[in-house]
Parts: sequence; structure tokens; C-alpha cells
Amino acid sequence: MIRVLVTGGAGFIGSNFVRWAHNAHPDWQITTLDKLTYAGRLDNLADVAESSRHRFVHGDIANTAVAAPLVRESELVVHFAAETHVDRSIQSAADFITTDVIGTFVLLEAARQAPALRRFIQISTDEVYGSVPEGASTETDELRPRNPYSASKAGADRLAYSYWATYDVPVIVTRASNNYGRNQFPEKVIPLFVTNAIDNIALPLYGDGLNVRDWLHVDDHCRAIDLVIEQGTNGEVYNIGGGNEVRNVDLTRRILDLTGRPGSLIRPVADRPGHDRRYALDTTKLRRLGWTPAAEFESGLAATVDWYRRNEQWWRPIKEKDQAFRDYYKTQYGNRAGA
Ligand SMILES: NC(=O)c1ccc[n+]([C@@H]2O[C@H](COP(=O)([O-])OP(=O)(O)OC[C@H]3O[C@@H](n4cnc5c(N)ncnc54)[C@H](O)[C@@H]3O)[C@@H](O)[C@H]2O)c1
Repeated sequence: MIRVLVTGGAGFIGSNFVRWAHNAHPDWQITTLDKLTYAGRLDNLADVAESSRHRFVHGDIANTAVAAPLVRESELVVHFAAETHVDRSIQSAADFITTDVIGTFVLLEAARQAPALRRFIQISTDEVYGSVPEGASTETDELRPRNPYSASKAGADRLAYSYWATYDVPVIVTRASNNYGRNQFPEKVIPLFVTNAIDNIALPLYGDGLNVRDWLHVDDHCRAIDLVIEQGTNGEVYNIGGGNEVRNVDLTRRILDLTGRPGSLIRPVADRPGHDRRYALDTTKLRRLGWTPAAEFESGLAATVDWYRRNEQWWRPIKEKDQAFRDYYKTQYGNRAGA
């Protein structure tokens, strides 16, 4: 059996990856290491909870005593764990530095002493390139992160690379665009807007709504990571983009159409400070390995809306009872009415 460590596997993309990899690789023995922050939920892993090929460890990647032995016993490390919400990083950046930078450092130090390790996948983001007014970012472009989240991720991205260049740790960095799909914590834009629309309450749209994101279905992201594990080259960076550039206002209208709600639910709110206008990725390098995204955005979004409609028991307790969500929502949108 191949021993695989997935950090942050109780979060959105991590749990989709664990489920996907558990099905795709009967020879993988997967350990999920997750701190279960507000964004991590054990019920995201319900499909593998009974499996003898999956083990859950509750712990912090920044805690060497917990994390290092798990890294040292692994052949593959897929490192998702992070504080991930730009808006939260603007409210308070401390946890982003501790987890995204120092936590990654702890894992990399352990990776130097992992005898069987053959891949350390550093999950980075397109946000490290900063705002891209035109064209598309290639892997060799300068990094110009512009908020505490993307700056922390850029730090981790380059730290991971440095451990390949300096110590020959088998690091590969992936930079994906915005993901969508099932089990995304409902304060991120798609699940927030879908669940607000289902409840017939306002959709708080930042600024003029013309910011552009490139949407990637989480299943396509999982397949890309898997391909990079099998066929990527250590020390390299791979962009993973869905090729679906959509303005936020158009995304919002599509969600309203799919939920049968009126445009009057859109509530313009003051913009996010330093809001990056556009991200776009050149994915030529990954496509040369044989990857193309399978999900078509219209149908992928419709299926995602359908998932949130059918799984109210997953998100409604978070939105109605989870104090972390309620505090965040009040701080974030309470004083922002009217752009
Ligand atoms: N969501 C996106 O659109 C997107 C796009 C590109 C890259 N990424 C990257 O993918 C990764 C996963 O993103 P996501 O959207 O699934 O995030 P998420 O916020 O849904 O999940 C993060 C997970 O990490 C865990 N975690 C946080 N701090 C931890 C710590 N100190 N120790 C152990 N576990 C900890 C949380 O409990 C949670 O389960 C992140 O590295 C993120 O930067 C996300």
C-alpha cells in the first residue's frame, strides 16, 4: 500500500480529493491530518469514515510533534491545509501566517527526513500572481500577491520550492483557480449566494460586480493533482485553471436563474479592500501532460446548485447555528450596505 498524507482533508477541496483518491486508488492508504477549524468538518469525510484505507488524525500542521511523524512515514504528501478566506485575512492575518507559512515550514522540515517520500504537492493558488488585467499568467510570471491570504500562500509556495532547490525535497507546486462544487463552506461566494438565494435573502455583491474569476470544478482539480503526482516533474509549478472566466455579476445572475429568484435579490455592497480585478491562468503546461477540464461551467454550476438544494442538512446548521459563521457574516456584511 502507498502511504499518503492529505493535510486539510476535512475542508472543501481536501475532502473532495480524499473521496476521489479513495475511489481511484485502491492501493492508497490515506491519512487525513486536519485541525478542524471553522472550515473543516468531519462530516465532509463521511464517505470514507468506515474505510480501513482511511484514517483521520485531528491535529495542527504547525505542531511538529503531531505533523512530523505523519510526514516521515509517507510516500506522498498532498498539502491542502490552510486558512483560505481572503476576507478573513483582511479582518485578521495572524492565523494565515501561522498556518499557511509556518505550518508549511513544519511539514517541509519533516519532509527532509522522510526516507520514502517521492512527492510533496504544495497546493498553491492563482491568487499568488495578483491581479491580471489582461492575458493569462504562466508559471514563470512574477508573483505579486496583494492581500494577506495570497501573500501567505506565495510565501508557502516559494518556501516549498526552496526546499526542492536546496534540499532536494520532491516538491511540486500547483496553482489552481477558484474552485466550485459540493462541500464548500457557505461563506465563499458560490455556496453563500446559492444558499442565500434558496432562502430568498439578499446576495451581497462586492463593488461594481465586474471582477473576473476563472472557475474550476473541484473534480477537475482532483484529477489534475493526481496527474501531476503521476507525471509531473519535481521542482516544477503547474497552473490548473478551468478556462471559465466569469464576471461576478454574471455568476450572481446565473445563480438567481438556477434558483428561480429575481434580480432584485442582488444587494451591492462596498468593495473588498484591494480587491483583485481579474485572475486568469495559462494551462498549457498541464495540458501537455494530458489534462483537460471535463466539467462544462453551465452544467457544473447547475449540478452544484442542485447539491446545495438537496443537502440543506449540511449547510443550514452552519449558517443558522455556527458562531464562527455568524460572527464573520455580521462583521463582513453588517456595515457594508450600499456600495
Ligand atoms: N477554494 C479555492 O477556490 C482554492 C483555489 C486555489 C487553491 N486553493 C487552496 O486549496 C487548499 C484548500 O482550500 P479549500 O478551499 O478546500 O479550504 P477550506 O478552508 O475549505 O479548508 C481548509 C482545511 O484546512 C484545515 N486547516 C486549517 N488550518 C489548519 C492547521 N493549522 N492544521 C491542520 N489543518 C488545518 C481546515 O480545518 C480545513 O479543513 C488551500 O491551500 C487553498 O489555498 C483553494
